[in-house]
Amino acid sequence: MDNACRLYTDLAWLWPMWGDAADEYAHYCRHVSGLIELHATHPAATLLDIGCGGGKNVFNLKATFSVTGVDLSPAMLAQASLLNPESTFVLGDMRTFRLDRTFDAVLMDDAISYMTCLADFEAAFRTASAHLNSGGVLVVTPDVTVETFQQNRTIATPATRKGPRDELDVVFIENVYDPDPADEQYETTVLYLIRDHGRLRIETDHWTMGLFPLDTWRRVLRETGFEVHEGQYDAGEDEYTVFACVKTS
Ligand SMILES: C[S@@+](CC[C@H](N)C(=O)[O-])C[C@H]1O[C@@H](n2cnc3c(N)ncnc32)[C@H](O)[C@@H]1O
Repeated sequence: MDNACRLYTDLAWLWPMWGDAADEYAHYCRHVSGLIELHATHPAATLLDIGCGGGKNVFNLKATFSVTGVDLSPAMLAQASLLNPESTFVLGDMRTFRLDRTFDAVLMDDAISYMTCLADFEAAFRTASAHLNSGGVLVVTPDVTVETFQQNRTIATPATRKGPRDELDVVFIENVYDPDPADEQYETTVLYLIRDHGRLRIETDHWTMGLFPLDTWRRVLRETGFEVHEGQYDAGEDEYTVFACVKTS
């Protein structure tokens, strides 16, 4: 099965229609800012968003922090720049990039789910640590863990926007499935139902994603140089574990 992530390449134009930057992302970003303020040993002014995608989190954090975003996808970075012309965006792979500067805070949101083996997962947290000042805070929120994964969960989400000229009705249908619970991966399959002036076009996407137990998250975060504070984020229908991790070494 391929792992092209069309939502971040040829179908990236659909991304602004998936979720509302000024609504659900705003609520989450207030939580993130609160954790940084609570745990940082110095007031935080700069933030690195690793896997920033289309920049919806950046949109909600840039009033509080001077934000730099890094992502693997040029198409997503182009959207992030359009939404946030005052912020800085850099192309990079979270397993390997080094910007030769450090920040007061780092956010790793849903993009960490694309780390599909332990070696990549650890490498991503080493990248986060390498970009944090001592006493700075990494906030990371697992989308799912082994404990919260729901086999065959399927969610249909109508788009919140109708395209640039009000011409599109789009529905995102997302299914998660773990064919082999013994490994560290699961599959996300997405159907995009795109009606352009009523005429239906169906596109598909298929992603391999990483799945680790909470104890692995805790251990890897400790081993990559963090003091780990664990809390919960209530997103309405779902509740997530959030790690606020202070860089100690
Ligand atoms: C769902 S999007 C993130 C959206 C983002 N939270 C926002 O605020 O708009 C997931 C992103 O992870 C990025 N990604 C996947 N693997 C990556 C990697 N190895 N390094 C950096 N970014 C990666 C994808 O390119 C994609 O833009």
